[in-house]
Amino acid sequence: MMETLSPLEILRWHVDMGADETIGEQTVDRFALIDSPAPDAAAAKPAPVSPRGAPAQAGAAVYPGPGPSEEMVKSAREIASQASDVDALHKALLAFDGCGLKKTATNLVFVDGDPAARLMLVGEAPGAQEDRQGLPFVGPSGELLNKMLASIGLARSAVLISNTVFWRPPGNRTPTRQESAICLPFMERLIELVAPDILVTLGGPATKALLGQSQGVGRLRGRWFAYQPHSATNPIDATVLIHPDYLLLTPTQKRATWQDLLMIKEKLSLAAKAAD
Ligand code: URA
Repeated sequence: MMETLSPLEILRWHVDMGADETIGEQTVDRFALIDSPAPDAAAAKPAPVSPRGAPAQAGAAVYPGPGPSEEMVKSAREIASQASDVDALHKALLAFDGCGLKKTATNLVFVDGDPAARLMLVGEAPGAQEDRQGLPFVGPSGELLNKMLASIGLARSAVLISNTVFWRPPGNRTPTRQESAICLPFMERLIELVAPDILVTLGGPATKALLGQSQGVGRLRGRWFAYQPHSATNPIDATVLIHPDYLLLTPTQKRATWQDLLMIKEKLSLAAKAAD
């Protein structure tokens, strides 16, 4: 005889099975789907989940899946280009429905810090805590990032922090090529509007998206690149840091990151002197 479970027992069973969040507002009757045609196996393949910030394999495609249509990107670029300041860009993103991640996210995660900052840091994608609070880097990796900044005399409030995608990918999976490409025009506009002296990408996906470099972070860190904004004539000095999530997993890399932070500190003071 089949036992009927109470809603609380069903919920407890899901938690025991490892479910730690709900990602849809509507319930789905899975039994009604049993008779529907099976989806194409390749198309249904989930995007891989790797520890956020794990170094990309040299030459590996960072983002899985097909890219978006040119029209979708063009429309995102048009919307982003109309924003004349960071606030307007925030409003444009709140109204933007072109990225599928918005459907499962709780909040838009745009920026934290000073929109007039001289140093801008861009990570991969919001995680669970960021999604809940609507702010980037507020979980454990955010705590480490704050300490990294403090070690070179910078308060979190003095820099600008964001991510290459503005909504949390369900289950912290890597953003797809489409999700990344559709958010990119907004990130590019954000960089133009902030016009920092230094741009720092945190981890492989942000480095690939903004600097076009797909080598492992271990090979890219400790060097300077030129980030060329679409509208400005002057390129921005850009560098790569090992992602704080990865540093939490491999603390032996902290020594290299300390060198990289000193390099950033020196470049910032040179830029400040040049501006005087
Ligand atoms: N990891 C990221 O890349 N971004 C966040 O905001 C938090 C964790």
